[in-house]
Amino acid sequence: DEGVVRRDRFSGGPARSFLSSLAADERIFGADLAVDRAHTVMLAEQGIIDDDVAGEILTALDAIEVDGHGSLPDGEDVHEAIETAVIERIGADGGKMHTARSRNDEVAACIRYRLREDVLEAIETTLALRESLVDVADEHQETIMPGYTHLQPAQPTTVAHWALAYEGAVRRDTERLCDAYARINQSPLGGAAFAGTTFDIDRERTADLLGFGGVVENSMDASSSRDFLLETVQALSTHATTLSGLAEDVIIFANRGFVELSDDYSSTSSIMPQKKNPDTLELVRAVAGDAAGSVQGLTTTLKGLPRAYNRDLQRATTHAWETVDAVTEASEVAAGAVATADWNEETLAAEAGAGFSTATGVADLLAANGLPFRTAHELVAIAADNGADYDALEAASQEVLGDSLEAYVDPDAVADALDPAESVASRDSQGGPAPEAVDDQLGAAREALAT
Ligand code: ARG
Repeated sequence: DEGVVRRDRFSGGPARSFLSSLAADERIFGADLAVDRAHTVMLAEQGIIDDDVAGEILTALDAIEVDGHGSLPDGEDVHEAIETAVIERIGADGGKMHTARSRNDEVAACIRYRLREDVLEAIETTLALRESLVDVADEHQETIMPGYTHLQPAQPTTVAHWALAYEGAVRRDTERLCDAYARINQSPLGGAAFAGTTFDIDRERTADLLGFGGVVENSMDASSSRDFLLETVQALSTHATTLSGLAEDVIIFANRGFVELSDDYSSTSSIMPQKKNPDTLELVRAVAGDAAGSVQGLTTTLKGLPRAYNRDLQRATTHAWETVDAVTEASEVAAGAVATADWNEETLAAEAGAGFSTATGVADLLAANGLPFRTAHELVAIAADNGADYDALEAASQEVLGDSLEAYVDPDAVADALDPAESVASRDSQGGPAPEAVDDQLGAAREALAT
């Protein structure tokens, strides 16, 4: 770890600020103090350093914490600066803190320690969003709305069914973040530069003191792997992609008057006095682009890096901080926007049947009464072009079947199938939009949230 050992020799030069991560390391200031404390306690317990030296180091670390990151002496990074500050306070013995470790395992431990906390916060925002979606679903189980494919009216559904579609996706986002968390939560401390150490250290003890679930066993793997960063950024990017779809839907629904965002989540125009714009959701949509960019940037930085430590890794870390901050904020805003939006039930009901969206239900009804589905599809398609009502269906029946519709199906059942609310109620297959099917989904969503 040449940076620390030969610090005086390599302390200056025109590349000094280019090399330094000290400013960005503010993020891991607290983590580094925790890692220093755990390592110092372990060294003393193992008899590698004296208890009184360990005590002095710990006292110095407390004072450094109080002074804050801004008071640190200059250094190539926070690890070097904190060590220098300890030595400034207690003398050369402060240098014993760095026995049996390297900045390589130290920084990896700090990143994991801090990212753990950040990912937990991200996970919490996914839970809040799921709660918002469940609440919307709970309130709007009977609120019919148009459903789309290709952005064209397709089949009527309900607001609850739509909300639970996103709840399911966000639930998987939560799971992916939890998976990433489990692999972040492993201690690399004790890997040293990459090749372990001659000292009789206790890696399980430092892992335990820092609350890690275990250790990254191989010391080279511990000090130099960053796949946990990639996995985290990928999981965040996937969540941001889910959020972008949700945002886009709500933007379109607001455009059609189906939903009105609360003022808290809207912007106005500096020139057009009547405007109420869904800017928050547009920014949520854009965060997915930033996150995808981070996945790309991080992957490209890690690709082809040889083992063990290379300084490229310093620039890998920032992708994770930027992404976790942006996506957590986007998730929080999406949850708030969804929770406070007002659904316009009348407009939704009026539009639910637009574009002959009940056509599939009519074709299903004819098929259920014995017509081959393909023939029913053709008959209803002809009716769609000629008025899309009962009379059009009757005319199409004469044309396709050479007989009245009544010969095949009860006219009342056709009238029901043409009604958007009846159409929704009849689609009660598992996972479907009928209120009773949505009830099951709602129960499962609540149960998953509670878990
Ligand atoms: N600031 C560095 C980083 O973030 C710390 C490790 C430096 N190690 C070294 N051998 N130069 O990766």
